[in-house]
Amino acid sequence: MVMDEPKIINKDVVVIGAGISGLATLKCLKDAGLSAVVLERTSEVGGLWTFREDDYGVMRFTHINVSKYNYCFSDFPFPDDTPDYPHNTDMAQYIVNYVKHFNLEDDISYLRKVISVERTAEVWQTTVKHVEDDGKTIDDNQPVEIYRSKFIAVATGHHAKPSLAEFPGQNSFKGEIIHSVKFNDAITNGMTGKRVLIVGIGNSAVDAAVNCASVGRCKSVYISTRSGAWVVPNYIFGHPTDLYACRLFFWLPFALANLIFGTVISLISGHPKRWKLNPKMKPLQSQPTVSPTLIHHIQRRNIKIVPNIQRIEGSKVYFSDGDSAEFDHIVLCTGYKIDLPFLSEDIQQTVLNKETNEIKLYKNVFSPDIGSSLAFIGFVQPASGGVLTMSELQARWFAHLCINQIQLPSKSDMLETMEKEKEFCANKYYKSTRHTIQRDPIVYNDEIAEMIGAKPSLKNNLGLAWRLMLSSCGAYQWRLEGPNKWDGAKKAVKKVPLTELMNYSALLVVALLGLFVCYLYSFLF
Ligand SMILES: Cc1cc2nc3c(=O)[nH]c(=O)nc-3n(C[C@H](O)[C@H](O)[C@H](O)COP(=O)(O)OP(=O)(O)OC[C@H]3O[C@@H](n4cnc5c(N)ncnc54)[C@H](O)[C@@H]3O)c2cc1C
Ligand SMILES: NC(=O)c1ccc[n+]([C@@H]2O[C@H](COP(=O)([O-])OP(=O)(O)OC[C@H]3O[C@@H](n4cnc5c(N)ncnc54)[C@H](OP(=O)(O)O)[C@@H]3O)[C@@H](O)[C@H]2O)c1
Repeated sequence: MVMDEPKIINKDVVVIGAGISGLATLKCLKDAGLSAVVLERTSEVGGLWTFREDDYGVMRFTHINVSKYNYCFSDFPFPDDTPDYPHNTDMAQYIVNYVKHFNLEDDISYLRKVISVERTAEVWQTTVKHVEDDGKTIDDNQPVEIYRSKFIAVATGHHAKPSLAEFPGQNSFKGEIIHSVKFNDAITNGMTGKRVLIVGIGNSAVDAAVNCASVGRCKSVYISTRSGAWVVPNYIFGHPTDLYACRLFFWLPFALANLIFGTVISLISGHPKRWKLNPKMKPLQSQPTVSPTLIHHIQRRNIKIVPNIQRIEGSKVYFSDGDSAEFDHIVLCTGYKIDLPFLSEDIQQTVLNKETNEIKLYKNVFSPDIGSSLAFIGFVQPASGGVLTMSELQARWFAHLCINQIQLPSKSDMLETMEKEKEFCANKYYKSTRHTIQRDPIVYNDEIAEMIGAKPSLKNNLGLAWRLMLSSCGAYQWRLEGPNKWDGAKKAVKKVPLTELMNYSALLVVALLGLFVCYLYSFLF
């Protein structure tokens, strides 16, 4: 029984969640001289990068699928000897090191679950209950805490609430149906020697399928996909794939960029149709599904690709091409829904369309109806790099607004921009609930950075200009200039490999242009 009165705590800013988004927010708020507290329901930092068997997050074997250059804090690079694609335990340790390095620990309150967030006059009131070590069970022996703050940042992630698919006859299935959120690895999930059907073809699906087919030694592994995919390799010509995402690439017409990317993938792995992956979209129109080994397992007949499920009868599953097979386990790798259960119903309706999984936020961060006192950090899906750099820039922007250094545009301007961007994204990306918050990190980060004076300009960084156009340059590029710039940024940018393909293609274009100008000159004079 709760005997005590609620404990009242006043802060400038409350941050909910100690994943990468919440921690970056805390660091940026402290840089701006604000007092902040991070409320975290588990006993650790790292959010979904800290593997927990009974909670959402990475699978036991997950390696990040963005390179360490483009998934790191902008003023805290990974140690040089870290592999290009760290394992989740390395990611978790890196996040712990970040907290230590910037002395963030004292501002994080663990085992605190935010139950409700309400706005009264100009103050946000956040009600918090203690939870037990599982991060879920409410501990009623501890007093309720009420935090009062002028500003609040929601950094609770958008990969916690499963989006479940339903197929005709599903209830008759004789085996087990789980969502990927419950898949730790094929062995602990008891799938060794079993017939497994994976549904969907995002990164959870390909990771789970490869694990089932390799270390899990499953009897058979099928992937059922309704939209197909271009499966992107981890490396292109020896460099991590995300290193090719650079400003020049985003300046190309979208059709040409798709043609180039599709051709490169086909040269490396063969056209996806050859592997029955049958994508319904162009390669850059979808969230990248990255796998270094999926194609290898398909060609060895360890994994079979089939179209969408038509119906289920007992242990038999029928697919839309008439094929059928029997299974013991179905793993629904069908993605996640944005979920903000602690917000009052009217705020939820203001910021989220639950039906379509769309957020109604200016640049994915602020509601035009609420303003800059409530920020959503990390509610964005990268089309070509990692969430971390995007969360961090959102956090810097929020911190600048909190200390009144800048202002948000007017409500009508924000609404107009949101409308235009919604239309732009709807035309650009393949229609699916997984693409509603999709953005290209370099383009998006430049837009946000410009608002706080941190967009890396070619003029001010002449020595890096070639790289700023042709290399992805990593997270550090947004610390080259502007407020809270980092002295180590230039050196760190230079350490990000400049791919030969981009470098020499650009040199060739420059040389050909030069020759053409000489040719014209010879006629004119
Ligand atoms: C399996 C998997 C692998 C991924 N791999 C990649 C990748 O390789 N590259 C990439 O760019 N992205 C990847 N992502 C996307 C990933 O969501 C982001 O990269 C990022 O880690 C999200 O961080 P976050 O801090 O926004 O959210 P989270 O990491 O989810 O952190 C949210 C935190 O909020 C806390 N919290 C939630 N609700 C409450 C509450 N009511 N009260 C208190 N605390 C609360 C949670 O406990 C958690 O610690 C992956 C996602 C998944 C599911
Ligand atoms: N190694 C890694 O780094 C790693 C590993 C796992 C996950 N992640 C990340 O985690 C996030 C979530 O990934 P995810 O793979 O779990 O989800 P996801 O990217 O949303 O993919 C969901 C898949 O399920 C399909 N699907 C959804 N609903 C369906 C339905 N009703 N019927 C049939 N198919 C359906 C989707 O197809 P449509 O396209 O047709 O909707 C899509 O193929 C992503 O950001 C991903 O990059 C990263």
